[in-house]
Amino acid sequence: MREWIVRGVAAGSPSPRRAAALAIAASFASACTTDSTPTYQADVRPIFEQRCQSCHQPGGIGTFDITYDAAAWADGPPAWAQQAALSVAAGEMPPWMPSQDCHAIQDSRALTTEQRDTVAAWAAANFPAGDESDYVSPAPIEHPMLDRRDAWGDPDLVLASPDPYTPVVSRPDDYRCIVVDHDFTEGTWIRGLEVAPEEAEIVHHLILYAFDASEAASLTQLDAADPEPGYACPGNPTATTVLAWAPGQVGEFLPEGIGRYVDAGTKLVMQIHYNTLGRTQDEVPGDRTATRIWLYPAGETPTQAVLQIPFPNMDIRIPAGEPNAAQENTLNLQPLFGNAPIEVPIIGVMGHMHQLGRAISLDMQRTGQDEACLLDIPEWNFSWQQSYFFPEDQWAQVGSDTTLRMTCRFDNSAANQPVVNGEQLTPRDVTWGEGTLDEMCLTYAVALVSPALLSAIGDIGAVGGGGPAAADCEPGQTSGCCGDGVCDGPETVDNCAADCG
Ligand code: HEC
Repeated sequence: MREWIVRGVAAGSPSPRRAAALAIAASFASACTTDSTPTYQADVRPIFEQRCQSCHQPGGIGTFDITYDAAAWADGPPAWAQQAALSVAAGEMPPWMPSQDCHAIQDSRALTTEQRDTVAAWAAANFPAGDESDYVSPAPIEHPMLDRRDAWGDPDLVLASPDPYTPVVSRPDDYRCIVVDHDFTEGTWIRGLEVAPEEAEIVHHLILYAFDASEAASLTQLDAADPEPGYACPGNPTATTVLAWAPGQVGEFLPEGIGRYVDAGTKLVMQIHYNTLGRTQDEVPGDRTATRIWLYPAGETPTQAVLQIPFPNMDIRIPAGEPNAAQENTLNLQPLFGNAPIEVPIIGVMGHMHQLGRAISLDMQRTGQDEACLLDIPEWNFSWQQSYFFPEDQWAQVGSDTTLRMTCRFDNSAANQPVVNGEQLTPRDVTWGEGTLDEMCLTYAVALVSPALLSAIGDIGAVGGGGPAAADCEPGQTSGCCGDGVCDGPETVDNCAADCG
């Protein structure tokens, strides 16, 4: 075995996935090189630059720098080469949870099968460097969302803690809630949101919550009671999730004419998950991670509004010791949309579980149609949760005849218990709850509806509660009227009264 292979071998015992990948690697033993053998310069470096380097660069959240460095290659492949190939073979890197067999997702980080095969063949051939003159820089990845952001220019709001927060290493996972100092004095339409981590190496994920006006005072109290910026908040507050973000994720930049409505008085809170594992307190920087928001100009109302349809299963029962507790339930959309023959698109989805979560999936069924997959996460990892958006030409259509089916699987065996203060907990019966040691089985389907329909049903999950005030309807009006946004034929004085209450 050559020296660099020894350097590349992982310390400690490999994970089951990693062990499987090692077995694959061992089967490459009969490696030989032909003209079609991939080389680092010609084939692999562009993949790593396109798919790994955004995190694996100095200051990034990835654990090492994967950027090409001629000196590091001077005497054989660098130490990280074998690890990188193994992590790709094991499907661990790049981090991307949704199965590619379910629904297409915009800005997917996943490698194509061809890219994975290329990396595997390169590893099998013992990581040939190739000639630097064969290197061609990879085509930039297309980002329709980012193109929109760039066209809009600077954000209208940059929301961050006024003072930096320094996470405490005594809890390697420090969850901090920063109450955003911004008052929405009137109903506001958001068209874009993104997270700008300041200290990217320690910001592991962020969830932006919207609380309604009635909770503003208690948030101010919580904030004031803690001398540091924000307050400690392990677990999940009961509030609307606006955006769940993990490193490497593009934000949400909505197409023209679509907006997220924020009610007057809404308070936004950023829950930031800091991970400081392996650092001493002196090595932890203060952080002012920001959320940037782009608004529609005052007075401009989008024609379509984002409606988040929350789908929780609060009846989950996860017996102590059970390694495979599957919980399934369904949500019929008829009570939400009524009997009107409307069709609304689902533009994205989000799934949420805690530490015992193993898998989560969301399917939909319409009368007379085959079941369709919206989200399938076969291996849940709490640290990589985020919102997913479908490509615009592949939005799913739902209506009153739609039933959503969600399945969550939990592993409550002794081996899968969280470690708290260095000690692994013993299994106990677990149910739904907000604490990190409780569990959740929750998805959101992100739908687009008319602003009028949003005001009729908005309190189920529109940002900050209700939608904009329902427009007054006129007899004879045929669209966008009467609060429910649905007109069965021309409105009459009679049915207007019924609709508008
Ligand atoms: C979105 C950010 C991100 C991207 C993209 C990414 N990584 Fe990582 N990588 C991480 C983080 C964070 C870690 C540290 C371990 C963890 O938190 O999962 C890591 C750890 C690793 C490790 C060492 C840890 C281990 O034992 O597996 C390797 C090797 C690795 N990444 C290779 C890659 C390769 C190869 C790619 C591209 C094909 C890639 N990564 C893409 C964020 C990323």
